[in-house]
Amino acid sequence: MTQGSSAVQRVDLGAESALVNAARALLDRAHEADGVEAFSEGFTKELGRASDHIYWASLIDDTLCSLAACAPDGSAELVVDPASRRNGHGAALAETVLQARPNAGLWAHGNLPAAQALASSLSLHPTRELLVMAIDGTALQRIGGFGATGDALPAGLEELSYTESVSRWGRDAVEQVWLDVNNDAFSWHPEQGGQTAEALHDSMDAPWFDPDGVRLLWAADRAEADVVPALAGFHWTKRHSEEVGEVYVVGLSSAYRGRGLGDPLMRAGLEHLVAGGSRRVILYVEADNVPAVRRYEAMGFEVAERHVVYSAGPADRANAVRVA
Ligand SMILES: CC(C)(COP(=O)(O)OP(=O)(O)OC[C@H]1O[C@@H](n2cnc3c(N)ncnc32)[C@H](O)[C@@H]1OP(=O)(O)O)[C@@H](O)C(=O)NCCC(=O)NCCS
Repeated sequence: MTQGSSAVQRVDLGAESALVNAARALLDRAHEADGVEAFSEGFTKELGRASDHIYWASLIDDTLCSLAACAPDGSAELVVDPASRRNGHGAALAETVLQARPNAGLWAHGNLPAAQALASSLSLHPTRELLVMAIDGTALQRIGGFGATGDALPAGLEELSYTESVSRWGRDAVEQVWLDVNNDAFSWHPEQGGQTAEALHDSMDAPWFDPDGVRLLWAADRAEADVVPALAGFHWTKRHSEEVGEVYVVGLSSAYRGRGLGDPLMRAGLEHLVAGGSRRVILYVEADNVPAVRRYEAMGFEVAERHVVYSAGPADRANAVRVA
């Protein structure tokens, strides 16, 4: 580390080290100051382990002052220590990332005024917008509080948890159809599409993973005891805390779309969360996925946060942009 220097430099965060701990502490300070996390879960998870992510940082007298990470797909996240802001560190960091990856997409979680100002000073423009929508209070209780899934479920369908499904048909068979439906439902999605069993297991290794929080909607009329039936859809929930839950991933197989199954599938997960104590449920959705946003609004969800990707290149060439 360079004494007294604040120049942006490439750093190695691919193994646990004092610098990785400093990076986590910096992210905690920024979270505290901004009320929103600067790095997404996917980026935070990569810190301290061998990966294809590239990192840059600036240090003042051996203290980490700013940090940027860039994923192989060109999406990038950056953060400046709250105590060192408005001194040009953000611009220097963003310019370094864009020099290395001119087409990088810089995530602005919460789209805070400072991020908007930085993007505008570098002539970057929004190329993707991800919304956080939330539901709570009576609106949530109305949907998730009455155990209505059984009533709302059309004939021939059965809702089971991951645990119950695995005990019937075995882990490999259940995960294979789950992956197939995920990759069918999210073929257009930059992060959620093209999932592998390895990536699925990686997510399932997270401390918050709850096998009963994965609700699977099976075409049970075709079920034979030893043959895994068709999977119509899945609703994977996540609990952030005692009171806050998330619609983590929800997807319907294309063969089962247009039959009104979105509603019971949503309810299946919401009921699970409410029964487990959730008083507020959030979800992430692309702002341009208008049918989904409308559906969630009709259920009582409201926009709580906006996460924007800023890029220098034309919108249709930026790496972090949805192309469907
Ligand atoms: C966004 C962030 C990286 C900016 O870091 P910074 O070191 O304060 O930014 P800089 O000092 O380099 O400022 C860059 C430009 O933004 C402007 N700016 C920065 N913060 C601002 C604020 N709160 N209000 C208005 N303008 C602001 C600066 O005046 C400067 O504009 P100029 O070049 O026209 O003078 C920092 O606030 C941060 O870490 N935020 C949380 C993480 C985040 O949002 N990252 C996404 C980045 S796209």
